[in-house]
Amino acid sequence: MKNQSAVSGLQPIRYKMTDTGTKEIQTPCYIIEEDALIRNLEILDCVQKEAGCKIIMALKGFAMFGVFPLIRQYLYGTAASSLDEARLGYEEFGGEVHICAPAYSEAEFSELLSYADHMVFNSFSQWKFFRKMAANSERKVLFGMRVNPEHSEVKVPIYDPCGRFSRLGTTRENFEEKELDGITGLHFHNLCELNADSLERTLKAVEEKFGSVFKRLKWINFGGGHHITRKDYDIALLCRLIRDFKNRYPLDVYLEPGEAIALNAGVLEASVLDVIHNRMDIAILDTSAAAHMPDVLEMPYRPVITGAGGPGEYGHTYRLGGMTCLAGDIIGDYSFRKPLKPGSRLVFEDMAHYTMVKNNTFNGVRLPSIAIRKSSGEVVIVRKFGYGDYKNRLS
Ligand SMILES: Cc1ncc(COP(=O)(O)O)c(C=O)c1O
Repeated sequence: MKNQSAVSGLQPIRYKMTDTGTKEIQTPCYIIEEDALIRNLEILDCVQKEAGCKIIMALKGFAMFGVFPLIRQYLYGTAASSLDEARLGYEEFGGEVHICAPAYSEAEFSELLSYADHMVFNSFSQWKFFRKMAANSERKVLFGMRVNPEHSEVKVPIYDPCGRFSRLGTTRENFEEKELDGITGLHFHNLCELNADSLERTLKAVEEKFGSVFKRLKWINFGGGHHITRKDYDIALLCRLIRDFKNRYPLDVYLEPGEAIALNAGVLEASVLDVIHNRMDIAILDTSAAAHMPDVLEMPYRPVITGAGGPGEYGHTYRLGGMTCLAGDIIGDYSFRKPLKPGSRLVFEDMAHYTMVKNNTFNGVRLPSIAIRKSSGEVVIVRKFGYGDYKNRLS
């Protein structure tokens, strides 16, 4: 059943490919590479088979439902962190829907139950509050508790779920073993773009703190942040860790990466609108760090641009800025072999994950279109945005 076309039923518009981008496509546009997605999914499938675990996709990282028909040929379901993500997973992906959020509201709880296969609570206070409603669920839902292993691996504080005073997960001190009736699994998540050695140290902390309750459980979710599809990721160690764990404890093991599914699986194509000078050359683009690639400012990080180098590396250096009025809407300083001019195309690499799911219409700047480059080479525009997408969010 594998390798069916990712986007069925859409009318392909044929675009000619060039070295410097997809000239005929109007920018800005995210272009997802079907072949790269398949490459990632094949790697993840190997892990599932080698390690004997199930992998689900965290929708917070990548939720382009136009390619769900491809992804569901490999993965078991979706990990949702809100009502709308849960509904998207349920309606568009199928398979298992796992929900985990820092807190649930009473108003949304019944609807959440109607989509869930696994539902993870962040605290025993929430579990005790919703326990009765949970027990009366018409749908068979497995309930779990998120634990905080109090072991940090992530260096950037806003991405570290185990930092000081973290609200994410129940610490051992607050873990109420006497309230475990009805709980069949545990969930932990403390990684971000990390390798298997980080999981090894985390697992040790989880086992030390919570190992005594494993005998009462059926499943455990190792969370996301596993950078499995990155070139230097130690897949052999990951598989060994999971197999060894399963030998010690007969639990179903889940992983819920987001980024690893869409890593290096798409670009953002943009154009230069103007070139100005204020002590240095500055190019203003038809995209924005603040609106279209917010992690560039939040993480922060410097995206790779195809064919460009660091400042001074090639003959023509520019500061690249976005089209919003935010002074800090700056993508970075880059150099190019040829001067930039209005109409020059730039291809920002690795722009599939944490972009579409996070972008916004600040300043009324229009969202980039979404396209897919199919294995056949055809580029299909899946979605274009307009005035309505901006206006409908405002009243
Ligand atoms: C609970 C949980 N699961 C999964 C993920 C996905 O992580 P990643 O996209 O880094 O793999 C996150 C990311 O923040 C998360 O908070």
